[in-house]
Amino acid sequence: MSTGVLGGGKGARSLPSRPGVRLAGTGTAVPATRLTNADLEAIMETSDEWITQRTGIRARHVHKVELGETTSGLAIAAARSALSNAGMEGSEVDLVVVATMTPDSPTPTVSCGVASAIRTGHAAALDLNGACSGFVYGLNVAHDLMRAGSYRAALVIGADRITRHLDYSTRGRATSVLFGDGAGAVVLRATDDASKGIIAQAMHSDGEGSRHLFIPYTREDFPPEEEFEEHKINRVQMNGAAVFKFAVGTFSVLIERTLSKAGLSPEQVDHYVCHQSNARILEAARERFGIPGEKMPMNIDRYGNTVAASVPLAFDEIRRTGRVREGQKVMFLAFGAGLTWGSSLWQL
Ligand code: UT7
Repeated sequence: MSTGVLGGGKGARSLPSRPGVRLAGTGTAVPATRLTNADLEAIMETSDEWITQRTGIRARHVHKVELGETTSGLAIAAARSALSNAGMEGSEVDLVVVATMTPDSPTPTVSCGVASAIRTGHAAALDLNGACSGFVYGLNVAHDLMRAGSYRAALVIGADRITRHLDYSTRGRATSVLFGDGAGAVVLRATDDASKGIIAQAMHSDGEGSRHLFIPYTREDFPPEEEFEEHKINRVQMNGAAVFKFAVGTFSVLIERTLSKAGLSPEQVDHYVCHQSNARILEAARERFGIPGEKMPMNIDRYGNTVAASVPLAFDEIRRTGRVREGQKVMFLAFGAGLTWGSSLWQL
């Protein structure tokens, strides 16, 4: 345990009353084991053709606890990679936000483990469960705490190992083929340049749709109208068609309203980094707003839906190719169980 209950003199240098927030680094971690559509064909009644045509997914990564690929392990690896990319030490971080719906256990939180592993020295640490929207929610929360002047350097991480809640038999094929595990992180830093940071954001929920996507712990968690079967316990239950419809509508409304809040037209945004849930859902949004393919990255073919990790995994990938530059505008978008949805439009 590090000494000094209040940490090591962070925040000594004063910032403007509403500092800007800079995206200073990104990093990711995915499990070593890759599961292709052909691998799935060998264990359930499915086909590469069905999966590729309906979802765009060709492979995903699945964790092995014995390799240290826990939610915390993945989150820590992504955090280290993002810090190294930002050229920073863990001791400079004073806020750690981990978005996850699959912590290793109810307590301790994943964020406490990350804060300790990277040696922040008593940084604020909080886990946030917004399902697939969690990372975008986390970005907004961390940004606003920094904009208020409360924190100077934050790590926002999306980490999930959803595959522990999947049924890899034919009866679970409609959901198990969709998901994969991983973690993605960004480092945020306060800056004197107040023009940098979020220019428009949104966070919403609708509990009425909770039964479209849920994980029951016990028999009591099943709604009366839902047929109870023992094998469904602890496994993702999803009404795919309902979620698909919700997702297509939500992405459109989110893009439209976020642009309108910022007073921008679709072409003024340089990158739309969306939750990777289904290639067809992303294509629908892209076509509706006439967004060119290179502005809406897709890596679902290689990772599947990685829940809270999906947005930072996609962002890190384009950032490392050099396509993301200072002065650009980036919109992060996600929807997920809850139901939840959110956006975060950044001036870099
Ligand atoms: O983060 C949010 C997470 N969730 C989502 O984004 C999911 C959104 N929904 C979807 O992406 C789509 O609804 C799915 C990909 C899940 C399903 O696609 P669909 O075109 O809506 O297929 P469907 O559920 O209507 O199923 C069509 C057929 C069925 O067979 P029958 O009844 O027509 O004979 C299914 O049993 O496809 C069958 N099927 C499969 N066949 C081969 C379902 N899953 C599979 C599979 N392999 N893995």
